[in-house]
Amino acid sequence: MWFTLKYDKGTLILLDQRKLPQREIYVKCRKLSEVAKAIKEMVVRGAPAIGVSAAYGVVIGALEGKGLNFILKTLKSTRPTAVNLFWALERMKNVWEKTDGSIEELEIEARKIEEEDLNACKNIGKFGFELLKDKKRIMTICNAGALATSGYGTALGVIRACKEKGIRQEVFALETRPFLQGARLTAWELSKDKISTTILCDGMAGWAMKNLKIEAVITGADRIAKNGDTANKIGTYSLAVLAKHHNIPFYVAAPWSTIDLNISKGDEIPIEERDVKEVLFFQGKRITPSGVLARNPAFDVTPYYLITKIITDRGYYEP
Ligand code: MRU
Repeated sequence: MWFTLKYDKGTLILLDQRKLPQREIYVKCRKLSEVAKAIKEMVVRGAPAIGVSAAYGVVIGALEGKGLNFILKTLKSTRPTAVNLFWALERMKNVWEKTDGSIEELEIEARKIEEEDLNACKNIGKFGFELLKDKKRIMTICNAGALATSGYGTALGVIRACKEKGIRQEVFALETRPFLQGARLTAWELSKDKISTTILCDGMAGWAMKNLKIEAVITGADRIAKNGDTANKIGTYSLAVLAKHHNIPFYVAAPWSTIDLNISKGDEIPIEERDVKEVLFFQGKRITPSGVLARNPAFDVTPYYLITKIITDRGYYEP
């Protein structure tokens, strides 16, 4: 059985998400620098999985004899948007300071973060089931599944919970350019679970809402501000606008650790801009004339008033 991440005696083993679905290979990180590189280069991705990996990164850094400040700085500089990274590092920092960097205690805390995330996903599934059980045709973007968490997933966790209760749904997954989390990752994990999936190019979302009777949209989140504004994969904002126009409920599913109460509204969320090569090239081949410009924001912010409900592990709420 495949897994997203596993820690074993000083090694963090990650399923290489850059290679899916063609190849299922695992990357072994035995150094802090390797964990940081794996997060930055998206071997592991998805807000909760980034947080859990960073927690194990602290343990690995401690085993190498690195100092706390260096470890935190290294891991914090990987990806700026997902607050779960900073949340997990804060927990690890507290344990380090209380126990003088005890490896045993750091390992216990990292495992706790991992287990809590899995439980949070199961609870999100339980609450989300109440909202989505009557919806048969569901749209999603990016990958907010088992690959993005300790397992089970947030948005896809809700779909899994529905399946476990015998509800058959059709998932319409947007391909999610440029990294193709939808086409490669969501499709991969849903097909492993035999959940019917149709891939749409990103530009087909409005057409599909109008013509394919989409009944709900559900996405994950990378950071939710105090007022409910939500950062998620680029394209989520457009989807929410389209959903409003077509009168389709728009749900965000995320663990409590994704809520950032230090940020009052979405404008304050740092948005990662990645290398434009990801847009200008496809699988190593340039797809645009040389010399043209590109932008590559990895996330956008959906304002709270476009979100029908935020489904968390503690229940669901209006933003
Ligand atoms: O750039 P990524 O692949 O890390 O972006 C992931 C997303 O936007 C997810 O929707 C989000 O992190 C939630 S994952 C449960």
